[in-house]
Amino acid sequence: MIAFGVDRIKKWLVAGCAGGLTMGMAWGGVAGQRTVWDRIYTDEQADRGEEVYRATCEGCHAPDLSGGKVVPELIGETFTDDWVGSTVGRLFERIVVSMPEENPASVSQRQKADIVAFILRANGFPPGRHELEPRADVLDRFTFDSR
Ligand code: HEC
Repeated sequence: MIAFGVDRIKKWLVAGCAGGLTMGMAWGGVAGQRTVWDRIYTDEQADRGEEVYRATCEGCHAPDLSGGKVVPELIGETFTDDWVGSTVGRLFERIVVSMPEENPASVSQRQKADIVAFILRANGFPPGRHELEPRADVLDRFTFDSR
């Protein structure tokens, strides 16, 4: 009788865990791809990113992100259309590897995730409650899509 009771409790626990996992996946979207429209950064993060952008990027990419003669813009349709089908992780990685041009290592990966948040906000993608993590594999879950 006692063994039977324990067994019942075990089954119940297993069912409970499986249920929790399924719910977690549905909520976090672990299984599915999300997009830049899904509120994937916070306003505070974009504010921090703006400060770093002003100090290290705007000299070349311009205060309004419109770029220059030989420097590409980081705002507007030309920019976002170019990135459609790609991911936020790739944009992050691009900045990690090659920007600022003279010395990519001078800005930390965390600060670069903040800059990505600032770029997303400047392009009209809405803020939310979770910050972008400074990890390309995590940010690869978020795609640029046209709308
Ligand atoms: C010395 C000038 C200079 C500075 C400073 C600089 N960039 Fe750039 N950036 C460029 C040039 C030139 C290119 C295009 C050639 C290339 O990709 O190397 C570029 C390309 C890029 C691209 C690729 C755009 C696209 O759509 O393909 C991104 C993103 C970018 N820069 C972000 C940044 C960020 C963020 C910073 C600050 C941390 C920064 N850059 C600082 C000159 C600069």
